[in-house]
Amino acid sequence: MKNSSIFYRGCLTVICITGLLGTGSACAQTVTIPVETAETAIVLQVAPNKDVNTIYLGKKLSNPEEYGGIPGVYQQGNNYSGMYNSAYTPAGSRNLLEPAIAVTHADGNNSLDLKYVNHSVTRVSDDVSLLSIQLKDPVYDFEVTLYYKSYYKEDVIEQWSVIEHHEKGNVVLQKFASANINLNAGSYWLRQYHGDWAKEMRPEETELTHGIKTLDSKLGTRADLFMPSVFMVSLNHPATEDEGSVLFGSLEWSGNFKTDLEIDPQDNLRIISGINNYASPYQLAAGQPFETPAFVYTFSSEGKGKASRNLQSWARNYKLVDGKGNRMTLLNNWESTYFDFNENKLSELLKDTKKLGVDLFLLDDGWFGNKYPRNSDHAGLGDWQENRKKLPNGIAAIAREAQSDGVKFGVWIEPEMVNPKSDLYAKHPDWVIKQPKREEYYLRNQLVLDLSNAQVQDFVYHVIDSLFIKDPAMAYIKWDCNSVIYNAYSVHLHQNQSQFYVEYVRGLYKVLQRIRAKYPDVPMMLCSGGGGRVDYGALQYFTEFWPSDNTDPVERIFMQWEYSYFYPAIASANHVTDWGKQPLKFRVDVAMMGKLGFDIVIDKLSGNDLKFCQNAVSTYNDIKPIIWQGNQYRLSDPRTESVASLMYVNADRSSAVMLNYLVNYRYDEGSKRPIRLKGLDSAKKYKITEINLYPTSTSVINSTSVYSGDFLSTVGFNPVVNSDRTSVVLKIDAVKE
Ligand code: GLA
Repeated sequence: MKNSSIFYRGCLTVICITGLLGTGSACAQTVTIPVETAETAIVLQVAPNKDVNTIYLGKKLSNPEEYGGIPGVYQQGNNYSGMYNSAYTPAGSRNLLEPAIAVTHADGNNSLDLKYVNHSVTRVSDDVSLLSIQLKDPVYDFEVTLYYKSYYKEDVIEQWSVIEHHEKGNVVLQKFASANINLNAGSYWLRQYHGDWAKEMRPEETELTHGIKTLDSKLGTRADLFMPSVFMVSLNHPATEDEGSVLFGSLEWSGNFKTDLEIDPQDNLRIISGINNYASPYQLAAGQPFETPAFVYTFSSEGKGKASRNLQSWARNYKLVDGKGNRMTLLNNWESTYFDFNENKLSELLKDTKKLGVDLFLLDDGWFGNKYPRNSDHAGLGDWQENRKKLPNGIAAIAREAQSDGVKFGVWIEPEMVNPKSDLYAKHPDWVIKQPKREEYYLRNQLVLDLSNAQVQDFVYHVIDSLFIKDPAMAYIKWDCNSVIYNAYSVHLHQNQSQFYVEYVRGLYKVLQRIRAKYPDVPMMLCSGGGGRVDYGALQYFTEFWPSDNTDPVERIFMQWEYSYFYPAIASANHVTDWGKQPLKFRVDVAMMGKLGFDIVIDKLSGNDLKFCQNAVSTYNDIKPIIWQGNQYRLSDPRTESVASLMYVNADRSSAVMLNYLVNYRYDEGSKRPIRLKGLDSAKKYKITEINLYPTSTSVINSTSVYSGDFLSTVGFNPVVNSDRTSVVLKIDAVKE
């Protein structure tokens, strides 16, 4: 079918359709449904045959009445099925491309068609609207509701679907995507990420070709180890920081995901994202809605920087726990003690916490297990009772001591896991994910508990709850997840093994929901042997995440840079450790890119190092509101320049922090040219002061000079980064004239 002419009538359009072979024509009405945010629109259209298609995704038009005319200006040849741009492509009827949904009906039939029934828009708040579109199969009692939640100010949209049927018997969902979006451009450039432990967030950017490019994971407990679900697609050419059209997307799901990017025969890009259907045909009983997780995206026609600020402010306003609130700086003992500590050592560390000036002491792995003491990563996971040798008076005693030292206290836990050497494993082998007749296979000597089982969910919930019962002032939880799922099998699910991957993540979310219902505010760090579980499905229960176990500051600049495209600085737990060869100041300055923490031996610091750290904590306390809540601008990219530079600017553009790091250590490298600042008010005047200096050094920056915002953003400023000044932190403040 081909549209021969379109006459625009408000939101209703009359389309005269001529048959493909030119026989006959009929006129029918279409309904155009735009979803608009401050700068973006996704526009859906109900065709005369009741198919719902996406006719536009991009910069919004000033007159929404013109959206209906969009299909008329394309001449892209035949759309054989008439549904290449389906808003949710059903498999098995006319479809020829990658489907969003594929099912086997109760009678064994594999066909699905989805026709428009109705739609409605709910205004959730001044900022948020929710569009729902109901679709139904004309032959089977099977329906899908598509949801589009739009965040106007943030330019962000979340899309998901709810699938339900009333057939006689179960329907098998073979594929059940969250979103199926369409983009139209001359070429498409995908920026995707890959990695491994300690190598998170390595970008690759390529032009997409015809066919399907799949981003996915099959790890069970987490989205990432090798590949996170975050990606960017630029239209026509790779977007730069401040220029170009680009879509950022990600699935809000903490397990197996799959995103297919398919250039269709008309050269449009179809993006279909959802839970990975790998090994997961899902038996859906009649009358039981299946809700898919949200796919979140933002579109910017002003480059990657704008897209990242959209996602960051959306995350702070709507997703992260306490995104607009406070965070605690902390001292962690993992790298200073590993498993080797006792009450005396912890007493010293509590005193060090106070001495350093941070808010909280975080006791890491190794505090539990008796029959199988947790003295290495070979034993004890699952036995969450305090080790009587290390902590004869329990966690409560440490917590009391912390209180009397005037610092807060938090603990590490990895509640989804079990070592085969544990009481838990001996008592409840049926709670452990493993194949009944196959050899066990481990990552870090451990296995995963079966969270699809409500009893196991209960156990995990009570492990956390009992920590708060022992120490009602418990101020922080680091929730780790160091293993993937091998040999996926759940005793509890009996014949329904293909539900397992989905039910695992749902079980995890049930536990987190219970914990958040009882402890809504307590800060919790999401950790997964590094950055493996960072996704917005999990982050809605957490205040922060651990980007990587690799804390070498040069490595971290690159990683934190890429993470920052998708996650706000307030959520990025950046700890100063002994990894890498850089000086302490460099390590601290790099950690200041996000939420500062320490994992070093305070006791062994020289006098000047200690003084520097103490001053750094108090400097950080002054600037953290700008870093956590300000707008982030990337100024000089470590992948192309010798100096990495970025800045955070507060809402009224009166104060900013600029962070600069040398990343190229070859002879004479440094900031030779000025770096252009961004986000400042060109009409304001600013002075620039170097902060966070090491005690023995003085600044070469003249803090009395005054520059206009215009000068700083047009000509720029030189932070004077070189081999003697490898990291430079600048505070920029508006001055009254
Ligand atoms: C993981 C975490 C580390 C630390 C150890 C403890 O590797 O990423 O920060 O907590 O576990 O075993």
